[in-house]
Amino acid sequence: MFASFKSIGSYIPSKTLTNKDLEAIVDTTDEWILQRTGIANRHIAHEDESTSDLAYKAAKQAIQRSGLEVDEIDAIICATITPDYFCMPSTACVVADKLGIKYATSFDISAACSGFVYALNIAKAFIESGLKKNVLIIGAEKLSSIVDYNDRTTCVLFGDGAGAAVIGATEDKSKSVLDIHTSSDGAYQDFLITPGGGSKTPCSTQMISENLQYLKMKGNETFKLAVNTLTKDVQSILKKNNLTSENVDYFIPHQANYRIIDAVGRKLKFPKEKIVLTVAKYGNTSAASIPMAINDWYEKGDLKSGDLMLLDTFGGGLTWGSALVYFNQDN
Ligand code: UT7
Repeated sequence: MFASFKSIGSYIPSKTLTNKDLEAIVDTTDEWILQRTGIANRHIAHEDESTSDLAYKAAKQAIQRSGLEVDEIDAIICATITPDYFCMPSTACVVADKLGIKYATSFDISAACSGFVYALNIAKAFIESGLKKNVLIIGAEKLSSIVDYNDRTTCVLFGDGAGAAVIGATEDKSKSVLDIHTSSDGAYQDFLITPGGGSKTPCSTQMISENLQYLKMKGNETFKLAVNTLTKDVQSILKKNNLTSENVDYFIPHQANYRIIDAVGRKLKFPKEKIVLTVAKYGNTSAASIPMAINDWYEKGDLKSGDLMLLDTFGGGLTWGSALVYFNQDN
């Protein structure tokens, strides 16, 4: 028995925030943002939309495309760093209620931008151990709720959105979630961090006055580590499975920065037409970025059932991972 990637869905909020809009907010330029990141636009959730609203819409689409009824979903894993509620209930439980799913195992995971690949790994383990039959995995973020729009080094990078997938079972290895690597190194915990609001620095007026509730990033240091770590990780998963970049139909990396994707893509010798790029349209949407990218390529008509996807990701923790996955959506 193998886990199988049965369907994809996504939801993108309608409101946009362009580079020109940002020029009016912080000391930046369209030219700087485009040259350094490849980002031209991002989508921002409305004030009354929370992460679970975005997640629910993506999940509903993924379930519809899987051909399953909602009550056939027996686990829901939501990867997010912007949950509806700080401690509880989990966003996965809120989404379960919105979908009308009762009694499923539902929980959130915190692995920042690597969250979707981590969730996929847990879903694979659930299914291949026989513990669960159909797992809904979600990457959803309202990053605009933790971005400091006075900090030009971060606010130009991030956007909101959600993606979801249904992971079921197959007997056919050529339709499976073939392999996944997930890793971390907590020595770099301060590279991407929201310092305030947790048990270390609980919420207080002083914490708020120091802006510690917002996301902080050591961008340049993160950039250099990302390129080297991802290149090695992808080389290792390909080698372990006796594959090369030629066997992969689509390289679908985390969409943080065009320059990171381009550098890794060149080192791994992926031709441009195999590299999935959505960073210009959506910016960095953390855990949502990979499923949103998969959905874009599916809706464009490029990604078809049977295609081998190579996912790779890098984010706060630090965490990273890669996955070789056959896309297996029939509807
Ligand atoms: O998703 C999780 C993983 N995240 C990542 O992988 C992100 C990795 N990092 C990056 O993508 C890039 O490091 C950034 C896009 C964040 C920054 O690009 P960079 O080429 O590393 O720039 P830098 O941080 O070295 O800054 C260069 C200059 C600085 O000015 P000085 O000190 O040289 O005078 C910054 O103050 O650019 C300045 N700068 C800006 N200028 C205009 C920083 N942000 C901006 C801005 N507009 N928005």
